[in-house]
Amino acid sequence: MARHSSILAVAFFVFASLISNVFAARSAGCGKTATITSGRQYTAQVNGKQRQYIVKLPDRYDSNTAHKLIFTWHQLGGSAQKIVQGEDPNRGGALPYYGLNALSNNTAIFVVPQGLNNGWANSGGEDVTFFDQMVRTIEADLCVETSLRFSTGFSYGGAMSYALACARPKEIRAVAVISGSLLSGCSGGNDPVAYYGQHGTSDSVLNVSGGRSLRDKFVKNNGCRAVSPEPQPNGANSVKTVYQGCKEGYPVTWVIHRGDHNPSQTDSGSSTPFAPRNTWEFFSQFSASS
Ligand SMILES: *[C@@H]1O[C@H](CO)[C@@H](O)[C@H](O)[C@H]1NC(C)=O
Ligand SMILES: *[C@@H]1O[C@H](CO)[C@@H](O)[C@H](O)[C@H]1NC(C)=O
Repeated sequence: MARHSSILAVAFFVFASLISNVFAARSAGCGKTATITSGRQYTAQVNGKQRQYIVKLPDRYDSNTAHKLIFTWHQLGGSAQKIVQGEDPNRGGALPYYGLNALSNNTAIFVVPQGLNNGWANSGGEDVTFFDQMVRTIEADLCVETSLRFSTGFSYGGAMSYALACARPKEIRAVAVISGSLLSGCSGGNDPVAYYGQHGTSDSVLNVSGGRSLRDKFVKNNGCRAVSPEPQPNGANSVKTVYQGCKEGYPVTWVIHRGDHNPSQTDSGSSTPFAPRNTWEFFSQFSASS
């Protein structure tokens, strides 16, 4: 009897570790003493070029807790430092870490890359390779749930998030593309990735049709039903469309507003930009095991 139950216990243990190998994916940095610290600038060599990025750890970082890993890419002419510090939302600036750190309750590690010439031309895929290197370096040192990597950005930073959804669909759980366009390419682009998109109908920098066509690639890849007619803003308020029929785990949400090229668009009567809350809601619907 005792012998039986210990065999059962061993069998159960083997089974349980198989399960956790399939679903949970804690990075090699889990359980290690972290050497990466918040706010310092780190460098990487990518195709012979020196690249920079900043990492933000949660307050009271716990190396035994697997965190979300969220990439926040700056706009053209922006910088990693400006994403860290944030800019005045009343003047079209983005909040620090696109407003996500304030909502994350210390469950996420943020990565803030610096673009060559303050943009994400991604020539020859070099910015995607930069992403690969940051993931490798950070996850060797910090405790990340590797099934919960996310990417967001405004404008050029949205384009870069889209490029990652195209090129690294297995590495990225979801993206949030704020007023993006096809500026950083789309190598691959045949696989589903959970997609949040947001755009203004009065966007004078990157028109709304560009934003819609990025969205439509993932409406198709994710197997969602197209929506017709095209959703429109409700006066001064944004309208959120949650696409139906998408493959499980690959939702698409689209927010249309009547504003210009602005990461900090608000609804009428509100002074709180809606992109952060929408993005956080979208990202935090995912958990490690689903
Ligand atoms: C934030 O996280 C702490 C620690 O896990 C938890 O106790 C608390 O309820 C969370 N707060 C919110 C608002 O989710
Ligand atoms: C939107 O912008 C794209 C890229 O600049 C351009 O090719 C397209 O003609 C524009 N569409 C409209 C409706 O303005």
